[in-house]
Amino acid sequence: GIKITTIGGGSSYTPELVEGFIKHYDELPVRELWLVDIEAGKEKLEIVGNLAKRMIEKAGLPIEVHLTLDRRAALENADFVTTQFRVGLLEARAKDERIPMKYGVLGQETNGPGGLFKGLRTIPVILDICKDMEELCPNAWLINFTNPAGMVTEAVLRYSNIKKVVGLCNVPIGMEMGIAKLLDVDHSRIKIDFAGLNHMVYGLDVYVDGESVKDKVIELLTDPNNTSFVKNVKGLGWEPSFIRSLNLLTCPYHNYYYKTKDMIEKDIKKAKEEGTRAEVVLKLEKELFELYKDPNLAIKPPQLEERGGAYYSEAAVRLITSIYTDKGDIQPVNTQNNGAIASIPNDSAVEVSCVITKEGPKPIVIGDLPIAVRGLVQQIKSFERIAAEAAVTGDYDTAVLALTINPLTPSDTIAREIVDEMLEAHKEHLPQF
Ligand code: NAD
Ligand code: G6P
Ligand code: MN
Repeated sequence: GIKITTIGGGSSYTPELVEGFIKHYDELPVRELWLVDIEAGKEKLEIVGNLAKRMIEKAGLPIEVHLTLDRRAALENADFVTTQFRVGLLEARAKDERIPMKYGVLGQETNGPGGLFKGLRTIPVILDICKDMEELCPNAWLINFTNPAGMVTEAVLRYSNIKKVVGLCNVPIGMEMGIAKLLDVDHSRIKIDFAGLNHMVYGLDVYVDGESVKDKVIELLTDPNNTSFVKNVKGLGWEPSFIRSLNLLTCPYHNYYYKTKDMIEKDIKKAKEEGTRAEVVLKLEKELFELYKDPNLAIKPPQLEERGGAYYSEAAVRLITSIYTDKGDIQPVNTQNNGAIASIPNDSAVEVSCVITKEGPKPIVIGDLPIAVRGLVQQIKSFERIAAEAAVTGDYDTAVLALTINPLTPSDTIAREIVDEMLEAHKEHLPQF
């Protein structure tokens, strides 16, 4: 039977994952699911773990659920390791959001300074997990969901010996589902050719039953109600002349790059009125865990769909299933470029449509990205690489360099000031500095 190990098992998303394993049991017979957390997440792990057990019992499936704080025991002989942890918990995320806002800069968990600092906290932990995997489950696949997923995948490829790594995000699947809804067709009939980076991914074309509907979808993207696709980023709608001439499908995070001023103003206003996203999520999470505690609950509650990562299990379980069954279907994931995108180094991580087999994802060759977006994608890749280097070396100047070259940073001095304040605020979780 298959052994799955989930690091950050106390996450409120775990019931999604369990729902996915239940749905796909015929194709993917999971025998053991090990949910791992740390001391600080012990209570969450208990609550969510017990819900997982009730869900599996209700489904009548022979999947054993193990709850543990012993990561090494959980990793031993695992077939797939999924990671969904948050170093420093939501308190750290709130700082990632609040501090940049003081400087008039984007405060967001995966882009700009927040993305840099989440990466600096996360990368040493994932590299430590990779070392354990080398020893305890060298043949396992690492399916990383932990943000910033692109930078984390880049760091694993560059600084660990684990080659069987795939980074995963729910944005591409969210775009397919959202567009299916806008076009009022079943999601299975929609296909998008994706290329770019995590949270910087473009749809090069979009099809219904194999026929391009790109022109129609481009028009839809001018409506502010049609550009969100995830609960945590509310898009503002594109200028028709911009999106028509760009002639690509944008992801929600592009709002931060092409509507920078408006989005920052909106987020700062929102932070004053209702709190930053981390502060909103803290409340949402409390409500969710109250529901999870109910001994009569044995399904994933629909309230989980208020979280930005909704439907990620769909993406995770279909990826694991396709690797396990050597399916050869096409899925968008973060993997080593290997020549798929000409304007990105071969050894870097990209987010791109891939054929998924037992050897893992094989990226579909795109060639060069359109000239209008090529530079921005390369710039973000440079940011991710230098940020990963700073995370590994703990070098202060490298961290300042990473933030200064980020297109969301207005100046080298502001970059240095933000780095100083954030290094101090997060020092407990940044032992390398
Ligand atoms: P969360 O705050 O609930 O954290 C999940 C669990 O991780 C917690 O129970 C916590 O105790 C645990 N944890 C913290 N440090 C740990 C460590 N060193 N080892 C093991 N466990 C540890 O977070 P969440 O909202 O469930 O999100 C989890 C992660 O997934 C975050 O990194 C988030 O950014 C990411 N995420 C990614 C996507 C995507 O599209 N890739 C979508 C949503 C969330
Ligand atoms: C998004 C993304 C994630 C992001 C998350 C936030 O859609 O794909 O990478 O970090 O959802 O969701 P939250 O509910 O925690 O704000
Ligand atoms: Mn994501």
